[in-house]
Amino acid sequence: MISKMNETVHYLKSKIPFEPQIGIILGTGLNDLAAAVEQSIEIPYEEIPGFVKSTAPSHQGKLIAGYISDMPLLMLQGRFHFYEGYNMQEVTYPIRIFKLLGVKYLFVTNAAGSLNPAMKPGSLVMLSDHINMMGTNPLIGLNMDDFGERFPSMHEPYSLILQDIARSFSKSNNIDLYEGVYCAVTGPSLETKAECKLFASLGADLVGMSTVPEVIVAKHSNMDVLAISVVTNLSNIFHSEAHSQEEIRDNAKKASVNLIKIIKNILYELYQKEK
Ligand code: HPA
Repeated sequence: MISKMNETVHYLKSKIPFEPQIGIILGTGLNDLAAAVEQSIEIPYEEIPGFVKSTAPSHQGKLIAGYISDMPLLMLQGRFHFYEGYNMQEVTYPIRIFKLLGVKYLFVTNAAGSLNPAMKPGSLVMLSDHINMMGTNPLIGLNMDDFGERFPSMHEPYSLILQDIARSFSKSNNIDLYEGVYCAVTGPSLETKAECKLFASLGADLVGMSTVPEVIVAKHSNMDVLAISVVTNLSNIFHSEAHSQEEIRDNAKKASVNLIKIIKNILYELYQKEK
């Protein structure tokens, strides 16, 4: 694993002429954020030694390096999902690579179903916490001591400072940014009504098939994490008809306009702080 990572890092360093500070993962339908990257260098996953191919629909499968608001960053356009058949090490491999390349902050976006009637399709929800219902954990196995400790704290998985920046920017710009708890499931089958009721009763506002493995690995290696979900559909406690993949993608696209504004602002604020 370590020598494979070294090979990936060596390759990416030969392609990227700066040290990235931020890692961004783009969820379903959020590709517009990729267009905001300046001086971009795009590297398809197939060309990166150690990376596996992303198979999910609307996920493009490339790494983008460049700048937004002067902040040097790496962006994953297309993530690896557990439901695609990858193991947890493969799903979270890019996060380890981010760390080795110097990334300090991880911004995760995703598309999620809502368990909370106030958080309607098209809403943005900043994660305050999560519940891991995937039945596994990406840190199972020998601990990689060079990244972090055996039992990393999940006391504050989502950075309070980053949440503050996002909250105050949204408030002063009249952007509705909800805050809630994300419950991660493996998928790919969607939840039953009974499962939705269970997750809601446990305190979850959202349900989705990603994010939590990446956040756990990022926290293990001491990154500051911010995660924002786009609500693409109400979960099926609230209606009887199944929603289409087109509906999910359209709602993600609508919300992405404000999401891009929020992310650009956080990058601007961090740049002012770090420079
Ligand atoms: N459930 C799980 N994952 C999802 C959903 C959902 O309703 N919507 C988008 N991703």
